[in-house]
Amino acid sequence: MRMYDIIQKKRDGIELTKEEITYFVDGYTREIIPDYQMSALFMAIYMRGMSKRETSDLTRAMIDTGEIVDLSFIKGAKVDKHSTGGVGDKTTLVLGPMIAACGLPFAKMSGRGLGHTGGTLDKLDSIRGFNTELSKEDFIRIINKTNICICSQSANIAPADKKFYALRDVTATVDNMSLIASSVMSKKLSLQSDAIVLDVKVGNGAFMKDLDSAFELSKQMVDIGESFGRKTVCMVTDMNEPLGYAVGNALEVKEAIDTLKNKGPSDLVELSLELGSMLLLLGNKVKSIDEGKDMLKEVISNGKAFDKLKELVESQGGDISYIEDTSKFSSSSHIVELISDEDGYIKEIIAEEVGKCALGIGAGRETKDSKIDLSAGIVLNKKVDDKVSKGDILAYIHGNDLDKIESIASRLKDSFKIGEKNKQNKKLIYGIV
Ligand code: URA
Repeated sequence: MRMYDIIQKKRDGIELTKEEITYFVDGYTREIIPDYQMSALFMAIYMRGMSKRETSDLTRAMIDTGEIVDLSFIKGAKVDKHSTGGVGDKTTLVLGPMIAACGLPFAKMSGRGLGHTGGTLDKLDSIRGFNTELSKEDFIRIINKTNICICSQSANIAPADKKFYALRDVTATVDNMSLIASSVMSKKLSLQSDAIVLDVKVGNGAFMKDLDSAFELSKQMVDIGESFGRKTVCMVTDMNEPLGYAVGNALEVKEAIDTLKNKGPSDLVELSLELGSMLLLLGNKVKSIDEGKDMLKEVISNGKAFDKLKELVESQGGDISYIEDTSKFSSSSHIVELISDEDGYIKEIIAEEVGKCALGIGAGRETKDSKIDLSAGIVLNKKVDDKVSKGDILAYIHGNDLDKIESIASRLKDSFKIGEKNKQNKKLIYGIV
């Protein structure tokens, strides 16, 4: 078999066989196939798509590059959560401590930034000392001790995805349904949880821009999950503006800490309650979604969720004084105000543009080897439906390089669409598959 022939076949719109799919997955993981050929194949897949059968074979081949992690050392039901990626999406940092404080183990393998979206591991890097590269033994030890662990996908869990992810991130091949479904499901199915809750983002800042494709992606992932005998639930949620106000690594961790202290933005709080109550229900901790929400609200108001975050940070080697005093997080040398030139209401904030602007000032990677500026990012001062007057601050740009800040400022301003008040109220949850 030759990689050239596989690229050509997909380029010409012909379905790949199971053997061809296994060949490139295995070959790229073992570093026999070079980046330039894999990039060309990803672009061909991006342009031509994959059938359901190809997507399922791709997922299986990716799982088979690694090991299946038996979670039976954790007592009771084991539930896992994953987001398809958004801008300002720090939900895992809020949800994890809340769930663990309710007594349900939260064993999560997270990822780094992808395209214009952020990644939980990059965010956690902003807490001094926090170690996300754990051995399987440490992962087990920490979960058993604290009920919560957030770490990097170990080298042995779907290693194909780790390599694909890094290459897709820098070759404009992220937002393809089959590549997303196989990436998410290969990781989730490699961990033997009892149930999986997927937050499928839809909108101008998500990889799926419209409801039809978000529901189709959800259906594909539920079908893959269930073909492996795993209960899988997708919640299709809004990404037509950044989640919360903060976009950028340290800035987002600070917002997550505020949320655990009961001072969070309403959309982030609502989403955490929705996803969290579904996790508690599937994890047999509660009998209804409403009971789950009440339990989650209780661990926020009594401080147990915040204490759980401190336990998480401490058990993974992080400096908990950052959590107690968020002024310790590194901050940017420049904070520039973005001023509105118009009066009206915020009709839309193009979240993908906000994500790309954050990337442009250093909050994400331009190449596989780029180093992230953890303090850089954007803090919105206005959200969709807010009233705005000429001279009001739309956002604050945090960065260490004034040239870079200047280069994104007008693009960021253009991402705020100002006009008449929207007729329809904004929605956070579009449906459950
Ligand atoms: N999240 C993933 O894990 N993979 C993708 O491809 C997109 C979002």
